Amino acid sequence: MAKKGATEFICQTCGAAYPKWQGRCDSCGEWNTIVEEKVTGEGFSNFAPKKKGQMLEFVPLSGVQEKLVRLETSIKELDRVSGGGLVPGSVILVGGDPGIGKSTLLLQTCAKIADKDTDYECYYISGEEAIDQVRIRAKRLGLEQSPVKLTSATDVKNIITTLEKSKATVVIIDSIQTMYLEEVESTPGSVAQVRACAYELIKLAKKKGFVLFLVGHVTKQGSIAGPRVLEHMVDTVLYFEGERGHHFRILRAVKNRYGATDEIGVFEMQDKGLVEVENPSALFLAERQGNISGSCVFAGIEGSRPVLVEIQALVSPTGYASPKRAVVGWDSNRLAMVLAVLEARCGMNLSSQDVYLNIAGGLKISEPAADLAVAMAVISSLTNKPLPADAVIFGEIGLSGEIRSVGQPNARLKEAHKLGFNNAITPPTHGNEKKNTSYDMNIYEIGNVQRLINWFN
Ligand code: TYD
Ligand code: MG
Repeated sequence: MAKKGATEFICQTCGAAYPKWQGRCDSCGEWNTIVEEKVTGEGFSNFAPKKKGQMLEFVPLSGVQEKLVRLETSIKELDRVSGGGLVPGSVILVGGDPGIGKSTLLLQTCAKIADKDTDYECYYISGEEAIDQVRIRAKRLGLEQSPVKLTSATDVKNIITTLEKSKATVVIIDSIQTMYLEEVESTPGSVAQVRACAYELIKLAKKKGFVLFLVGHVTKQGSIAGPRVLEHMVDTVLYFEGERGHHFRILRAVKNRYGATDEIGVFEMQDKGLVEVENPSALFLAERQGNISGSCVFAGIEGSRPVLVEIQALVSPTGYASPKRAVVGWDSNRLAMVLAVLEARCGMNLSSQDVYLNIAGGLKISEPAADLAVAMAVISSLTNKPLPADAVIFGEIGLSGEIRSVGQPNARLKEAHKLGFNNAITPPTHGNEKKNTSYDMNIYEIGNVQRLINWFN
């Protein structure tokens, strides 16, 4: 490892270090993100123990555990994503594109907790915006009477001195990329500063037992370090995502030491801040137009809850030598596989057709259970025959054309029934898994893709 005072070249996206400059980071594949930085002794690098260590004590795996007491935020979607509430002493990194609504979400969270109990001390430390700007936002959100302690600061030393003397319950640092420690000789936002500042703040959060939120911007330019350099240091990583043109935002846990990571929370950005969406399916299907070819409804599962989304496909004759495949919101390799199965097993000719696939509303789906819905949308567009508007579809497609069963079929059917769907196209029932037939729905079990074509004849 390089000596203190020497320089090394650090990728601002993932934090990988190189002895020489290079155009592309080998570790994360990003271009132009490597910047020369001084090696500092703060936090991680150049740590050499001077004293002899103490003997460690080992214990058996079984034992009495302390029960986690969680602090509920009264924002149900956030509680769900964090695994049932915030754990005192835990550190949560909230990443997302600039302007997506991170400051709004955290100001609302902070105010909700402060309003709950007069004993809760909630600190909002803004390094990006002046006090007046935050006040304007608070007014817009109707939160100006909340007993939140607001300040604008960027010097971590001052922040730590202040918090040491407090009885903080929740501390929000907006954003970690604006914070600096004088001892570290790099500009705020560089990997060295971001890591050193986070290290000091996290240490204090663990010692004092407050919930620490760190806001981190996702960056492509590499002029400031992205949240990925901090992911391993914090307990929970939440990403706040959404399409600029859409009103809804999705809070997704990508790492959680205190809960599941596949949960999502859905919010809608309105005039007066973020509003929780209790029924995401209704929102995702709101703009659907019935009786159109190439559109179908997929009954998916996100985390612990079912979500219905519209899948749209457009198949049109290609003008290129090799046909175009464009996918928004799904895995393009998976689409290639589904198309290959349709060609090989159903004799469909797609090699002279462009295929566009879109998950309506800007949601990103990763489940293989969407295969069957994608195949149906593609066939429907190719044959120009619409599917029944009140049908939901789910199922995984195997390479030999068989339709495989997927997890939680009953939860999917229940959600579809709740939203007024009368028909469901599903994989066949296998083994001990039983589909609940008590809903008033017609369930069509399909065993292989060849049978799909029958639907359109
Ligand atoms: P902000 O929380 O400042 O984003 P971030 O901290 O992630 O950079 O949100 C900024 C956007 O949200 C801005 O484009 C305006 C919009 N907005 C609303 O639509 N309604 C609101 O009530 C608020 C406060 C912001
Ligand atoms: Mg902000």
